[in-house]
Amino acid sequence: MGNTVIVGTQWGDEGKGKIVDLLSKHADYVVRFQGGNNAGHTMVVNGKKIISHLIPSGIIQSKKCFIGNGVVVDPFVLLEEIEYLSSMDIDVSPKMLKISNRAHIIMPYHKLIDAAREVKKGDKKIGTTGRGIGPCYEDKATRRGIRFCDLLDFDFFKEKVVTILEEKNFYLEHYFKTEPVDPDTIIHQFQQIKDRLLPYIADVSVILFDGMNNNKTILFEGAQGTHLDIEHGTYPFVTSSSVVSGNAANGSGVGPGNLNEIIGIVKAYTTRVGSGPFPTELFDDIGDKIQKTGSEFGATTGRKRRCGWMDMVVLRNAARLNSLTGLAITKLDVLDDLDEIKICTGYEYKGTLISDFPPEIKILEECTPVYESHQGWKQDISGITKFNDLPDMAKLYLARIEELAKVKIKIVSVGPEREATIIKENIFN
Ligand code: IMP
Repeated sequence: MGNTVIVGTQWGDEGKGKIVDLLSKHADYVVRFQGGNNAGHTMVVNGKKIISHLIPSGIIQSKKCFIGNGVVVDPFVLLEEIEYLSSMDIDVSPKMLKISNRAHIIMPYHKLIDAAREVKKGDKKIGTTGRGIGPCYEDKATRRGIRFCDLLDFDFFKEKVVTILEEKNFYLEHYFKTEPVDPDTIIHQFQQIKDRLLPYIADVSVILFDGMNNNKTILFEGAQGTHLDIEHGTYPFVTSSSVVSGNAANGSGVGPGNLNEIIGIVKAYTTRVGSGPFPTELFDDIGDKIQKTGSEFGATTGRKRRCGWMDMVVLRNAARLNSLTGLAITKLDVLDDLDEIKICTGYEYKGTLISDFPPEIKILEECTPVYESHQGWKQDISGITKFNDLPDMAKLYLARIEELAKVKIKIVSVGPEREATIIKENIFN
C-alpha cells in the first residue's frame, strides 16, 4: 500500500474510524493532520467498542502513531485518552505515539470562549462541540497560540500564558461578562502534567521523512468531513481547520508529492450534527428510521445526528476537492429495510438546476433536491463479505453512485465489525 489519505466526503461521521482501523494494518505509520478532540472515531474490535478522539485509531493495530502540526491538542484530554487506551492493554507509550512540537495547545480559556460564544449567538449558534477548537485555531492564525515546543522552556511558556491572559481576560470579563481566568492556576495545571507530555513531543515532519526514506508507508487519518472544511464547507457552519486531502501534507509536514492514494469515506446516506444547511435532510418517519437503525448519535457529544438521502452534489464536490482515487461506502446495511432509496443528483433553485455545490448558505437552505428513486433490496446484507453476493438492487445503487461520482468504489462496509467489510478492489498491495 502506498501512502494513503482517508477523508470524509460529507459532514463528518462517515465511519472513517473503521476504515482507518482496517487499512492501518497495512501501513507502518498513522498520522492525524487536522482537527482535535472534536472528532470521535468509533471502532468495534472483538465485540468491544473503542472510541478515540485524538490519538490516531491506528494505535489499536499497534502502529506507530503521530499527531501532526495541523492538529490542535487538549493535553488534558490527550492524557486521559492515553490512560483509557492503556487500560485496554493498548501500548500508548512515547515509543508508539509522537506529537508534533509545532502542534498548538488547546488552553482552558479556548474552551471557555467557545462555550461563551455559542451562548451569546443564541439560535444562530454553530453547534460546535465545545472543545475550544475554533478559538485555538484563531490564536494560531493571529500568532498568539501556544505550541508544544513552548513546554520545553517552561519559563517561556509561563510568560506567554501571563501575556495572553491579559487580553483573554479583558474579553471574557467585559464582552462575555464571565469570570476571568487566573494565570497561576493554569500554570500550575500545566506544571502538573508537563513531565508526562515531554517524552511524546518530537519533530514529526522529520520522523515521517526519515521513515519514508526507509520505505515506511503512512496512513493519514482525516477527521470531520469535506463540507465542514473551513475553506470549502458550508461556511460559517464549519469547523476551523482544513479537512481536505491537500492538508494531509501541510498538517503533518510531508510534501504533497508523497500522497499516493486518497480514499473518500461515504456513508450510504447522509448525516450532519450541529447547525447548518443540509439539502437532503429528512424530517419524516424515514429520517427517524435511518437515525434509529444507524444509531446516529455523535461519538463526541452524543447529540442525535440529522439524517437524509445520499447527495451527489456533495459527493462530486468532495471527489474534485480531494482528488479521490477511491470510495469506501459505509453503513450500507442501515438501508436494508427501506422500500425506496433516493439519490439526489442536483439542486433546483428559483427554476435553475444547480450541479456544483454553492457557497451561499441561503441557496443551500432554500434549494429543492432533485431525486431519482431506487428500489430497496429488503434483505439483511450484514453477513455478506463478497461483492457478488450483494442483492442486485444494492449493486445497482452502488453502481449508480460510482457512475455519478466518477470514482470507483473500493470498499463497502455492511456492519461495525472489522469482518463486516467487502473489499471490492484491493488497495493493499
Ligand atoms: P467545532 O469543530 O467544535 O468548532 O464545531 C464546528 C462544527 O463542526 C459543528 O457543527 C460540529 O458539530 C461539527 N463537527 C466538528 N467535529 C465533527 C466531527 O468529528 N463529526 C461531525 N461533526 C463535527
